[in-house]
Amino acid sequence: NGRATYRIATIPGDGIGVDVTAEAVGVLDAVLPGIEWTEFDWSCENYLRTGAMMPADAPGQLAGFDAILLGAVGFPGVPDHISLWGLLIPLRRAFGQYVNLRPVRLLPGTESALRDRTAEDLDILIVRENSEGEYSAIGGMHHPGRTDEFVRQESIFTRVGCERIIRYAFERALERDGRLCSATKSNGLLHSMPYWDSIFERIASEYPQVETRQLHVDALAAEIVLHPDRLDVIVGSNLFGDILSDLAAAVTGGLGLAPSGNINPERTAPSMFEAVHGSAPDIAGQGIANPVAQILAGAMLLEHLGEHAAAAAVDRAVCDVLREGRIRTPDLGGTATTGELGSAIAHRAAQLV
Ligand code: NAI
Ligand code: MG
Repeated sequence: NGRATYRIATIPGDGIGVDVTAEAVGVLDAVLPGIEWTEFDWSCENYLRTGAMMPADAPGQLAGFDAILLGAVGFPGVPDHISLWGLLIPLRRAFGQYVNLRPVRLLPGTESALRDRTAEDLDILIVRENSEGEYSAIGGMHHPGRTDEFVRQESIFTRVGCERIIRYAFERALERDGRLCSATKSNGLLHSMPYWDSIFERIASEYPQVETRQLHVDALAAEIVLHPDRLDVIVGSNLFGDILSDLAAAVTGGLGLAPSGNINPERTAPSMFEAVHGSAPDIAGQGIANPVAQILAGAMLLEHLGEHAAAAAVDRAVCDVLREGRIRTPDLGGTATTGELGSAIAHRAAQLV
């Protein structure tokens, strides 16, 4: 595409988010020179200093960028609901990023919980609803302090919200193996999930080429571990998609390898790319975080911008370096630092473009 340069915002955030984002920037620079990066220091540290995770006009400041690369937000000392609702969730919603795309693959050379499986057996795309569902601010506490106190937490499933995410998943299934599994729990959730299922069935009738299944989310969790080869694309609500993708990441080589994209499919606002993992306070500041998840998030970013060759080079470079196996961070059983693994991938990627 005719664009000479891209303007990309980074929000490194907290903990290892800062280190892994630096490596992803290095790899993207290696495959696509000339990106104009702008860093925003919005984080828990910023919250402690200013009383806000990010300024009120943050969406306005980010709106003109081609894409956003986000590290992770959240750190001990600031409650998690403040960091999540103060930055991540408002940005996802302000920019209409209603798709959370989470590819899960068994990368070459990585030790999986599913040891006898190969890359062909485990290549799943999780499409998570990213703007409504169970993650809702509606509810509240009643009779606080009394013995009969209780809280209510309501879920919101709109027709538009369900239709657009399910249709998006069918489109992705058409591009892949043509199989789509919907995560439901209509036996327990008496209103939301039967509604989700009815919309899924209606849209399925528009896609006779796609083979569909609807599994209860608990059975689907077991299926990811026991029969990952039966799965291609999975679509789930906000909560179900979140849990299934952590599980799926854990049965491959762990959270250090799993990327994610918050996508605005209509491209009316920037999409935002991040690793599935958080800020990992237990290993923060040690220089040993695995940068692969964030580097693969960078590859998804390039793919979204239409830079297919550069994205493919990053993906190949990650696979080559992991397969070769000499440079591994401690989570993969090695002794390399974040910077050593990141540089090795950047170096290999530069040879491939
Ligand atoms: P976490 O993903 O930060 O860490 C879970 C475990 O995985 C830890 O033992 C950690 O060391 C390990 N791990 C994660 N990423 C790794 C990497 N790249 N390399 C090697 N090991 C890695 O999840 P946790 O501990 O539940 O949350 C920590 C903080 O991060 C919390 O404040 C949470 O709210 C926040 N968080 C933010 C997210 C975001 O910004 N999207 C997502 C998830 C959590
Ligand atoms: Mg999560």
